[in-house]
Amino acid sequence: MATTTLRAPEERAPEDLRITPRDRRFGRAGVTPRLWHRGNVTATATYNALSTTFPAGEAFFVESVRNFREGAPPRLAEEIKAFTTQEAIHSREHDAFNRRAADAGYDLSKLEARVDERLALTKGRPPIVSLAATMALEHFTAILAHELLADRRHLAGADPETADLWRWHACEEIEHKGVAYDTWRHATKDWTRWKRWSLKARIMLIITEHFLVDRTRGALELMRQDGVTGAKAWVGLLSYLWLRPGMFRKIAGAWLGFFLPGFHPWNVDDRHLLAAYDASAPISDRTKKVRGAA
Ligand SMILES: [Fe+2]
Ligand SMILES: [Fe+2]
Repeated sequence: MATTTLRAPEERAPEDLRITPRDRRFGRAGVTPRLWHRGNVTATATYNALSTTFPAGEAFFVESVRNFREGAPPRLAEEIKAFTTQEAIHSREHDAFNRRAADAGYDLSKLEARVDERLALTKGRPPIVSLAATMALEHFTAILAHELLADRRHLAGADPETADLWRWHACEEIEHKGVAYDTWRHATKDWTRWKRWSLKARIMLIITEHFLVDRTRGALELMRQDGVTGAKAWVGLLSYLWLRPGMFRKIAGAWLGFFLPGFHPWNVDDRHLLAAYDASAPISDRTKKVRGAA
């Protein structure tokens, strides 16, 4: 069975990697249950809180990376195009998912306002700061995606269509995990290694604090809307995130890897997860792959 392999640190993506958007649509035919994740308040709130970040967040990623497309080498320019297409489709699908959550009775407005506030922090700053933030968040999404696909327990028992949405998104996050990083490397090619490292490390620490605080608060707010509050909510959520299944604990090692010299997202080659996803997707969807058309 294929497994994750550690590549020698080459600081670039594998030569034969091709980023191929899969234009899929989820949940249009039926109603998504309010507690779509096993009827579980905590699990549903955790994923719903994450989903509220995607429509605006991924539009921001696209904008940040495209600012540096001019002058990029041909392969990188091509990858930026495919990345843009994938993220645009992710925004569309999570926007639709968030509307279904709202239809099921959740009020997401506080969570969405928080995302807008965080994104506003980059306003008026040089575009390289937005690119660095995107690169850091893309590492986050890639390691979350890896864990989500590597351990099927994370989505076990969930509404199948919704679980499929998350797996599809995770698959494409892995596939394009090197694009923001390579764009950053290209944009900072004249910088010293120290200058590069210190900005990327500082940004990653800020992003991490915001990510942990905001997703925790967001999930607690959604749990409150299901009547779970106080110590019960805190204990339930923290043990879900950090103990069992413990998604945040499980990505901690991969998160640390970002700070090491020679780091590149593709030093960890986890394409077997993509292959497994593609093999499991319905045949009609396998034929719907589209080339980047940004
Ligand atoms: Fe995405
Ligand atoms: Fe992404």
